[in-house]
Amino acid sequence: KPIIFSGMQPSSSSLHLGNYIGALTQWVALQDEFDAYYCVVDLHALTVPQDPAELRERTRTTAAQYIAAGIDPAKSTLFVQSHVAAHPELAWILNTITGFGEAGRMTQFKDKSQKQGADQASVGLFTYPVLMASDILLYQTNVVPVGEDQRQHLELTRDLAGRFNHRFGETFTVPEPYILKATAKIYDLQNPTAKMSKSADTDAGLIRVLDEPKVTAKKIMRAVTDTDNAIRFDRDEKPGVSNLLTIFSALSGTPIETLESDYAGRGYGDLKKGVAEVVTSTLEPIRARTNELLADPAELDRLLAAAADRAAEHANTTLRTVYDRVGLLPRR
Ligand code: TYM
Repeated sequence: KPIIFSGMQPSSSSLHLGNYIGALTQWVALQDEFDAYYCVVDLHALTVPQDPAELRERTRTTAAQYIAAGIDPAKSTLFVQSHVAAHPELAWILNTITGFGEAGRMTQFKDKSQKQGADQASVGLFTYPVLMASDILLYQTNVVPVGEDQRQHLELTRDLAGRFNHRFGETFTVPEPYILKATAKIYDLQNPTAKMSKSADTDAGLIRVLDEPKVTAKKIMRAVTDTDNAIRFDRDEKPGVSNLLTIFSALSGTPIETLESDYAGRGYGDLKKGVAEVVTSTLEPIRARTNELLADPAELDRLLAAAADRAAEHANTTLRTVYDRVGLLPRR
């Protein structure tokens, strides 16, 4: 089977609807066709300050949400990044073939470091995409399902793989991004031209997987729309309504055109009610299952440990080849 790899940061108390629609639902859909590796990238989360006790908790909660959303730990290798030492080890080697300017051109780095101020931003934040390349390349990954915001990091990963292969001989599979046009960017409900993100200025436009349904419904009913009152998909003229239609369609499986004709002549309040229903009925069972899984942390830790062993085996095979190719003295 071809190999798929993807990951999410455990940097929040809950995943949000963008993570769920843009990434997690694709992961679930692809896990049968592919040999799947799904990772909780805790080392990436450390690139900005984290509370240690919270980070540990969030790492478990993130893993639980993967399973609750439908990742089957018997089919997919679901593990924690820091449990497989090969990730930072390969990242070091890749750091040595990444250009300073090349890393500096990453738009996520530019945005995040600008927000934090140049003196606060860490070197870890700067080399973040190189660790991401390491995650992907260790498994000889063919396909990487992500949201639109990761496209540039994927390009860097492909460049690094090609560069290494060219200098040291065929070593890495060059991975393909898997980014679904319709759902790869879910927007903030209050600011529908910006992507939904945990680091938005206000919380009101962010739908969390683990929020109470009441909270979620209220946020949807207050979503920003426009002063016109036609329910139609038009990203430029009607970003708020278009985002609601995208979410509705993604979670219900109903094509956007069908929704447009279903809601023809009706008001935004009706549309929002429909969206709130489908969102809460999708997320509620995930929330319940996540809480069940978290009630038995020992079992969850056991699953993660077994998966880390499987992942490490594959990763170390690649790492040994890399160490050999670049000329490191093997330890006897
Ligand atoms: P992260 O943790 O920011 O986001 C996890 C996944 O969710 C997608 N996503 C969205 N999709 C649609 N609309 C949105 N508003 C939205 N917000 C987030 C992201 O594109 C991502 O797929 N660098 C990665 C984590 C990572 C990784 C990797 C991914 C580390 N190593 C290897 C793939 C392969 C990140 O920070 O994602």
